[in-house]
Amino acid sequence: MTTNEARTIAEMILGTIDGLEDDIDYQKGFHRDYYERVIEDTFGSLHCSVYWGATKCVLVPAEFDYVIKIPFNCQGWETNIEDAPRFCGARYVLTGGEGEDYCRAEAEVYEAAKAEGLEQFFAETIFAMEYKGLPLYIQPKCEDDDNSKERTSKIKTLESDDAADFSQSYFSAASMSEEMIFNFLVDYGEEKVEQLFCFLDDIEASDFHDGNWAFLNKKAVLIDYASYHEGW
Ligand SMILES: Nc1ncnc2c1ncn2[C@@H]1O[C@H](COP(=O)(O)OP(=O)(O)OP(=O)(O)O)[C@@H](O)[C@H]1O
Ligand SMILES: [Mg+2]
Repeated sequence: MTTNEARTIAEMILGTIDGLEDDIDYQKGFHRDYYERVIEDTFGSLHCSVYWGATKCVLVPAEFDYVIKIPFNCQGWETNIEDAPRFCGARYVLTGGEGEDYCRAEAEVYEAAKAEGLEQFFAETIFAMEYKGLPLYIQPKCEDDDNSKERTSKIKTLESDDAADFSQSYFSAASMSEEMIFNFLVDYGEEKVEQLFCFLDDIEASDFHDGNWAFLNKKAVLIDYASYHEGW
């Protein structure tokens, strides 16, 4: 997807969720610890669900195939909250260096994965536009549940040893659940999954807990692959 296409999608989503009235002073800080003051006040009136983890805020519109991701800005809160520095170690694998934009980190991992022919494992994160002071990225909307009979029966034919082998051989796989690895094996096959883990280990990717993968078009994909590194 191009940035122009991403912008068009982001603008359509903003139209359906009604958008924001005021600009946000992003540089001053935009952080999960200030959920009530910043995130809820900012997004509470929008017509969408709002989620957040340690490093990003995610707007999920009900009737749209994409979500909007907004990276937190911790530096602005540096003096306000004790653990802000912990969330500022996003690594930019293509352009180099570190910062606090975990969405940019994700977008760069996607580009790097694409260069290796591994993009099918990732829900694409791409920068879309600046909006009211916020950097907006988009990503295809994914589902966290796929209990189809076909999938369940395929998974049952795999031995738990298969997943354990990966967990022992690859640092990145060690942070994944067996279920996650099983689903990758079912959807992409052993050879491709091995390539994925080599790639993830190469870029020192981590933090693949079960909240960080989901299903896109009935296939398992990573939705949060920015990793987490302590900063400063
Ligand atoms: N593509 C998506 N489709 C649907 N929901 C999503 C998507 N991306 C994120 N979410 C929701 O938003 C939450 C936070 O997103 P994400 O994991 O990217 O943020 P994070 O701050 O990096 O999280 P973490 O605490 O794991 O570091 C997810 O756990 C999920 O509930
Ligand atoms: Mg996450």
